[in-house]
Order: sequence, then C-alpha cells, then structure tokens
Amino acid sequence: MSNTFKGVAVFAAAGAMLLAGCSTDRGGEDPGSTTGATGSPTADGGVCIEEGATIGVALPQKTSENWVLAEELFNDGLTEAGFNPIVQFGNSGVTEQQNQISAMVEQDAQVIVVGAIDGSQLGSQLETAADAGATIIAYDRLVKNTEAVDAYIAFDNFQVGVLQGEALLQGLAERKGEGPYNIELIAGSADDANSIPFFEGAMSVLQPKIDDGTLTVVSGQTTFEQAATAGWQAQNAQTRMDTILSGSYSGDTELHGVLSPNDTLARAALTSVDQAGKDTPVITGQDSEVESVKSIVAGEQYSTIYKDTRELVAQTIASVEALAACGEIPVNDTEQYDNGVKVVPAYLLEPKIVTQENAAEVYANDPTLGPLTEG
Ligand code: BGC
Repeated sequence: MSNTFKGVAVFAAAGAMLLAGCSTDRGGEDPGSTTGATGSPTADGGVCIEEGATIGVALPQKTSENWVLAEELFNDGLTEAGFNPIVQFGNSGVTEQQNQISAMVEQDAQVIVVGAIDGSQLGSQLETAADAGATIIAYDRLVKNTEAVDAYIAFDNFQVGVLQGEALLQGLAERKGEGPYNIELIAGSADDANSIPFFEGAMSVLQPKIDDGTLTVVSGQTTFEQAATAGWQAQNAQTRMDTILSGSYSGDTELHGVLSPNDTLARAALTSVDQAGKDTPVITGQDSEVESVKSIVAGEQYSTIYKDTRELVAQTIASVEALAACGEIPVNDTEQYDNGVKVVPAYLLEPKIVTQENAAEVYANDPTLGPLTEG
C-alpha cells in the first residue's frame, strides 16, 4: 500500500481543519541516500520534513499570467522560509512534467507541489514520490485517479464558475437591454481538472436561463466537450469562435454574450468578434491579467475573477512550513474534491468577481493591478 495517507488526521478546529500531523522529529534515514527517503514517518504515522528541505514545485505550461507569477513567488518565498526550492515548468507537455517530478524525487524533495498539466497522467510518478516519503500537494489543479496526493490548495473552482455565470447575466442586463439574449459558451482544456468545475459552476446559473428561453446558445454547442479549448490555447478558442460566427451569426444576428473561463480566452474571443465586425459582447474572464484589467477599466471585457496568486502561494508555503514544524497542513474542505479514488482534503480560498464597478476596490492592495484602476 502506498504510504501517502501517512496517518493523515483531519479534525475540525475553529472552523478550519488540519491534516497530516506528526509528533516527532524525523530520523533514521540514510543521509547519503539519493533515491528519495524523505520525510520520516512518526509515531502517529505523520511526517516531519527537515528545515532546509528540498521542495519541488512542478508547474504546467505558461498558459496564463498566474503561473508565471507563481514561479517567482515560490522561488522567493521558499528560499526566504529556509527551504531549497526546485521550481519548473512543463513547457513541452506531460512527459516533461512527469520527468521533472521523477527528478525531484531523485533529488530528495520532501514535498512536491504540483500544478498538473494533465491531472490524470501523474499517478505513477507521484506514487513513486509518495513511496519515497514525499508529501504531495496539488496546487490550483486537482491530481486525479491516485491516492498519492495528500492535500489540495486552490481557489474554489466551482464558485469561480458560479461567479462567471452570474456576471454574464448581470452584464447582459446592464449592457444589452431586455432579453432574450444570444450567447456562446467557451470552456477550458479537458485535461485540466479545473475546467469541469468552472463550466459546471457557470452552467448551474446559466442552464435555467437557457431552459426558460432567456438565453439562446445559437450554435447549439452547449456541452463541455463542444465548448472545451485544447491546452487553454488562445488560438484554439479564436478559431472555434471564427467558425461559430461565420456559421451561426451571419447577417444581422447579434452575439450578446460569451461565457469565457479565463482572460486569455476572453481576449481571443473578442478578437474574433471584432474581426467579424460584430459589436462587443458581454464577456467573462478569470485571472485578472493585466491586458484584461485594462480592458475592463475601458469598458470592453465585462468581468474577470481575482484569484490572488500571492495568497495561493503563501497558503502553500505555510503548509510546507507547518510540515517542517511537525504540524499539520490546514484544510477547510473534506468533501468536494473527489479525485476518482479518494476525497482529497482541501484548503479552498475565495475567488472574487471583478467588474468595472469594483475593480479599484478589489485591486486596491495589488501593486501591479491597483495602479491600472486609478483615474
Ligand atoms: C487555472 C486558471 C487558468 C487556467 C489556464 C487553470 O487551471 O485555475 O486560473 O486560467 O488554468 O492557465
């Protein structure tokens, strides 16, 4: 049996939960080992990681600004906290990310933080890591179909979708007069475990309005599979939108709104609509990317989501520090994130919706975005 549970203890404490505790110092491993005997088991089955431990952070491709920022924050924050970070992007795809994780195990990483490219393709590498004693934290994206994941730290993905669906309805009412409205749906990449909760969250709000005739998806493409965007690539979303516009929006047919799961794809869809000579639709987004925040302030893109990467990385580093102090990874949700073989204890942060109206307030403390909303 894999040792990934490591006697994880989950208990309620003042509205939050903690897990994966340990009560003794690590000891007994061969200091000369290069094959990954890492965090040592403790009396209660937990692990304590060493001060100065190597921490592997496997990030996906740079498909949005949040990942780029995370690299810098993990390097700086882990170093400052006294650890030895190895932070890598899997730029060329799943195989590269698999190899990077295996190499992190070889380098004795005691914690592996994973932002998976494909949440279902890391099982064997993570099981090897777990067998070597590493604690595995899924970062932002859930790791699927494996027991080899100890905790999940992310913004609440379903809630992101709910906020996007609500923003689309609100924007339509504000900017497009009385309904009914013509809309199109864009979803994220099918290999990213987040894409379905984003889409389902949004559809929990939009489906009743499709059913009662307030919204019409003119292309008829309403399933996740039809709406998905391979690799989160802007070009794929733009090409699909070009095809939809030429096929379903000829002549005067207006496109009033677009559900977009993130800012990169929102800007791609807006380019497509612009090239087709149509009016700007109400469009949602996510990530608070600089170009999209400027677009929101200028009254073009309607909304984005603020998931402060600094907060997410800080929460993850705090979890590593907790393990180093022989403590427990804090979690606040032990129900929502079933990865196919287990419910992964999660720490979920709260996403915020941002429109032109509240941008200045939401970004007030963000050194990059705050200044974009002034004057
Ligand atoms: C993240 C989003 C991001 C997308 C593409 C998702 O897993 O949660 O914030 O827009 O990946 O990079």
